[in-house]
Amino acid sequence: MINVRSLACAFLLCSLALVARAQTKPADPAVPHLEKRGQATQLMVDGKPFLVLGGELSNTVSSDTDRMKVVWPLLAGKVHMNTVLTGVSWDWIEPEEGKYDFRLVDQLVESARQNNVRIVWLWFASWKNGLSSFAPAWVKAAQDRFPRTQIRGGKTIEVLSTLSRNNVQADARAFAALMRHTREVDQTRRVIMVQLENEVGVLGDARDRSPAASDAFAKPVPKELMDYLAKHKQDLLPEFKQVWDAAGSRTSGTWEEVFGKGAKADEIFMGWNYARYINAVAEAGKKEYAIPMFVNAWIVQPEDKGPGDYPSGGPQDHMHDVWRAGAPLVDLLCPDIYLPDFAGIVARYGRSGNPLFVPESAGDTRGAANAFYAIGQHRAIGYSPFGIDNVARLMGFGPDGAQPAGSQPPPDVETLPFSVAYKTLAQLAPSILEHQSKGTIAAASLNRQKPDQQIELGDYILNVSLPRNRRAPAVAPDVTGYGIFMATGPDEYLVAGNNLQITFTPNTPGPPIAGIARQENGRFENGKWVVTRYLAGDDSVLRDDIATAADMGQSGSGVRLSAPDRGIQRVKLYRYR
Ligand code: DGJ
Repeated sequence: MINVRSLACAFLLCSLALVARAQTKPADPAVPHLEKRGQATQLMVDGKPFLVLGGELSNTVSSDTDRMKVVWPLLAGKVHMNTVLTGVSWDWIEPEEGKYDFRLVDQLVESARQNNVRIVWLWFASWKNGLSSFAPAWVKAAQDRFPRTQIRGGKTIEVLSTLSRNNVQADARAFAALMRHTREVDQTRRVIMVQLENEVGVLGDARDRSPAASDAFAKPVPKELMDYLAKHKQDLLPEFKQVWDAAGSRTSGTWEEVFGKGAKADEIFMGWNYARYINAVAEAGKKEYAIPMFVNAWIVQPEDKGPGDYPSGGPQDHMHDVWRAGAPLVDLLCPDIYLPDFAGIVARYGRSGNPLFVPESAGDTRGAANAFYAIGQHRAIGYSPFGIDNVARLMGFGPDGAQPAGSQPPPDVETLPFSVAYKTLAQLAPSILEHQSKGTIAAASLNRQKPDQQIELGDYILNVSLPRNRRAPAVAPDVTGYGIFMATGPDEYLVAGNNLQITFTPNTPGPPIAGIARQENGRFENGKWVVTRYLAGDDSVLRDDIATAADMGQSGSGVRLSAPDRGIQRVKLYRYR
């Protein structure tokens, strides 16, 4: 059983480590920033908490102005997104050294304004998916000036080295120009966050073996990292601490002396160097316009044997301590989640108070469940499926599922499960943000492998399960069910979701059985609850075997959630004996 209260306490304690970094309040409170509000760290936009119902465009579509004319109204109008994550590449804005071209940037900001959505810049610069394909041609062609990573066998790869001052200075200068320009042109504050680079790390080896990198690797671990580890010894994530302990918990020495010989030391060395580089880029950008900035991780895949199969040195969950030490100006460490264990991955990314944001994941029914779960159970500041300009991805195709470029979206985009889920979350956003902050919110994501769950929330245990037939309640259907639950008052809940049923068990002294006093179906219009139907009778009876229900201490009635018609309900309970 998930105990929301003890989760809340653990969350609160762990948060203390990171809270300070996530909350530098800007002089102008309207500027987007992160703020600790009660039990959640929330993104503040125009001075108010904001829930990111996002979607990430495929890599280069934002440079295709014709295609974007179709995409903008689709995302905002039909999928109910309030934020678009869009690439802005170094090459697009600085095609010639020192000469900036912000035409695409201006168009994106203006289109976002016209479509009433916000933007997250994805700064594709030194690295995108580990590689340096988005660096300008003048950088790529000047290998002596902008050195590359070398992997085993002395092979050079198309990856800029983290160990070059020229590389970091050129990237930081361009990023500073982008942020200065954004501050100047974005009068309606469309741009609310920035992702720095994309899924960084060395591929093909565990570390850079260029001469500069090998020199640095043979030197002592920098004092800043050693001091950080000593200071945070008690709070280090267990898998990282284990590596340090196994090598003798030394407080000084070379990388191999402190972290042991092998791929783990290589990965930690790379993590430190990526973190320092990206922190310098963030610093240059924040000097111009200090809005929240995050990095995203290509997470370890089951078939990976070690760092280098996945990008070595990226912000994978076992590397968070190194990133915190090396990149204090990076506000969030985010996972790109294409693996099925969404719940496990977000739990690991929520450790040590790292506020959760999921910049890339699914956009089909699973995506709907993921969004509900991350936002309700982990107080995420938002969610974002990848490749959302390709409507096929809303219909269950994998990340590479293709729809011919330029093709028109199907007419029923608005009725796809993900669009319905965002429509629901958009209506609920003010309540969700309030209850995230109070710690009176929870969520569930269920399927045939995990068809039932109990959640403590308010004064009741919520017995949440996939919908059952009244006459055969033991058999779970093969569907994805998800819901978000808020304790809105004594004996009162606001619940929303799809393919779920809920019964309630009292969790405080008093009469032991919960009955439904009143149940309303409805929607929020401009923040106001509008009842569309009063529910009772067949709407609420969940099982016909009332004697069994009574033996279980239950009334046999509860809530059945099914989107879109019965997707949002308010329920008032009473107790009897
Ligand atoms: C992860 C990357 O971050 C995205 O930009 C995109 O290329 C997807 N992979 C494709 O699956």
